[in-house]
Amino acid sequence: MVNLLPPMHWITDLVVVPIGLIALPLVATGSAVCRTVSWMFTRRVKPRGKAIVITGASSGIGEHIAYEYAKAGGKLILAARRVDNLNAVADACREKGAMEVEVVAADVAKEDDCQKIIQTAVDKYGGVDILVNNAGVLQSFEFEQLKDLKAARQLMDIDFFGNVWPTYYAIPHLTKSRGQVIVNSSMAAFLPHPRQAFYNAAKAALFKFYDDLRTEPFGRSVAITIATPGVISSELTEGKFVNETGECVWDEGRPEVHFGPMLSSRIKTEVAAKGIVAGASKRQRYVVVPAYFNIFALYRFFAPGATDNVLHRIMYRSERPGKSLTGRLACKLGLRSSAGSSEAGEGEETAAAAAEGTVPETSGEEKKEA
Ligand SMILES: NC(=O)c1ccc[n+]([C@@H]2O[C@H](COP(=O)([O-])OP(=O)(O)OC[C@H]3O[C@@H](n4cnc5c(N)ncnc54)[C@H](OP(=O)(O)O)[C@@H]3O)[C@@H](O)[C@H]2O)c1
Repeated sequence: MVNLLPPMHWITDLVVVPIGLIALPLVATGSAVCRTVSWMFTRRVKPRGKAIVITGASSGIGEHIAYEYAKAGGKLILAARRVDNLNAVADACREKGAMEVEVVAADVAKEDDCQKIIQTAVDKYGGVDILVNNAGVLQSFEFEQLKDLKAARQLMDIDFFGNVWPTYYAIPHLTKSRGQVIVNSSMAAFLPHPRQAFYNAAKAALFKFYDDLRTEPFGRSVAITIATPGVISSELTEGKFVNETGECVWDEGRPEVHFGPMLSSRIKTEVAAKGIVAGASKRQRYVVVPAYFNIFALYRFFAPGATDNVLHRIMYRSERPGKSLTGRLACKLGLRSSAGSSEAGEGEETAAAAAEGTVPETSGEEKKEA
């Protein structure tokens, strides 16, 4: 290929790239040492008596983050749409030792409601010390299934703007208290996962948004912790999701199809909440729960094509009976006839799925017969 760039670019390419590569291990090592030293000497944030706002506190991770801060004696504002659930969580928080608890019925997709959440904290406790942006909903449909963009807009409104608006209205209060923002993004921000492209895009946008805020004056005075959980037990992984018409629905059979074998990696909600609060209390920039999910992000970075292919195969395996890798390899090697491969492959799929605790989807006809 002919390089049409002026000669100066050749020179800079030849100089900057090798120098950058040589400097990289030194900078990375230095940065790791600084992080470790700062982690060792950073005193834990003490939540006792602090005004802590938690969105999406009516269930799952948000509920358990509320319990962690309640045990530490925080003054809590719990926000979500289901008030009955919030009241039950508030009672449990009082029992666990929260100094004060206030419940706010709010839909984070509405900017006014987000302003109301922060205003309640200011009216009740005089400000905001810690803001936990946790509310979110999962998507489970493919892009081409959309008849219009209602569902797409709703997911971005809840999963991205529903996180940004509370932070916006809390700016003066967080800067005054030199407080903290905890953001619940997701490992899905890095890893490809079918049927949740809008959810993943919103989570990736959150990651980038808060990462960039760290370089602005706001991020110099307010500590930002971005949590990227893997697969955690909660309503979100038990069958609650937004479908292609934009409705939030329950389907208990859906997680097995949606998450495939990854469902077996689900960890307890309280473990995830403890990890996030512990990391945030040390003002960590990132918290990955469970930590081993870091390795998948590395694979995504160094082998994006392979990661896409593996994820596609895993997630659509049940819809491609008889097309397993081992089945096709056996046909190619002549160990199995291609005519019989479909049947044999199907057996293999079922056995593999049974071993992993997942149930392959059956066709409508098969279901009727059963
Ligand atoms: N579970 C996982 O595997 C996983 C992994 C990575 C990241 N996350 C993230 O963790 C966060 C919490 O999810 P979860 O797993 O704990 O699921 P969950 O049990 O379904 O909790 C979601 C929370 O968000 C609230 N919420 C949803 N839509 C809302 C809206 N429009 N306005 C106000 N609140 C709303 C829900 O309350 P109401 O319905 O009462 O409003 C609920 O309290 C989400 O942001 C999710 O994306 C979860």
